[in-house]
Amino acid sequence: MSDIAQHVAVSDRVEIEDLDWDLARKHGLTDREIENLKFFADVESQTVYYFLEVAKLEVVRDPELLTFLTMWNYEEYFHSHAITRLMQECGVPIENATERSTKVRAGARFKAKLEDFAQTMMAKTMPKRFVALWMFWGALQECLTMQAYEEVIRSTQNPVLAEMFRRIAKQERRHFAYYFGQARTRLTDNKRAQKFCRFIAQRFYSPVGSGVKSEGEAAALVARLFPGKRIFDVMSYIERRMAQLPGMEGLDACTRWAAKIQPKLPAELRAEPPADEQPLAA
Ligand SMILES: [Fe+2]
Ligand SMILES: [Fe+2]
Repeated sequence: MSDIAQHVAVSDRVEIEDLDWDLARKHGLTDREIENLKFFADVESQTVYYFLEVAKLEVVRDPELLTFLTMWNYEEYFHSHAITRLMQECGVPIENATERSTKVRAGARFKAKLEDFAQTMMAKTMPKRFVALWMFWGALQECLTMQAYEEVIRSTQNPVLAEMFRRIAKQERRHFAYYFGQARTRLTDNKRAQKFCRFIAQRFYSPVGSGVKSEGEAAALVARLFPGKRIFDVMSYIERRMAQLPGMEGLDACTRWAAKIQPKLPAELRAEPPADEQPLAA
């Protein structure tokens, strides 16, 4: 069975109707979890706007890409929906997923709009390289998304949140696998595409969601999710996975990003205590 046929066979909205909401309420959510869940829901809810942007591009009029995009967009939409539902069930005051997503989009930063524009130009002037970059970028971001869901599964005391996230993470792994496989095909024996993707990653990498939040906000949210040195473990794991793609050996865009944001973080989230709090050498 082809790659895309496998996706068609298993694609579905994440099942949540059978979850035990009473149990979810009994365990509740910590303040940190609520903040993380809002961030997850916001980022997931923006997929549809990204979809609208890329769907305008000529290069996307490829039956297989359109099939994948449609399923991907559908699944991501329900991730946001599911997370919002859990927060509502646990008594967190929050608008429904659609209202919130419209508000977040209205506040989309200039950066997101600039990216849309740059994307349109690239897709017109160098369509093949653009698709390679798009698949590569998708793999890079889905890899982080998988890590983020798994981090919550490991750390939460709420069994319903853990179960919901296990189901979502399963779909994120599929998204990653598709983008990664596509990126591999498009980068193989294509030195120019390899160089281009590498250049863009090294120069512009920042985690998914950075476009709709301010850079500082997004950095603090990612650092809160992976506090202290953990962020470096996660980022270097992503780099090791991505390094398996042609031309990507030694990619260090993600760990460099993690190092760059350190000074902007509140002291308690930094990987190292601020210099004036470090013990003096004897
Ligand atoms: Fe998702
Ligand atoms: Fe995803």
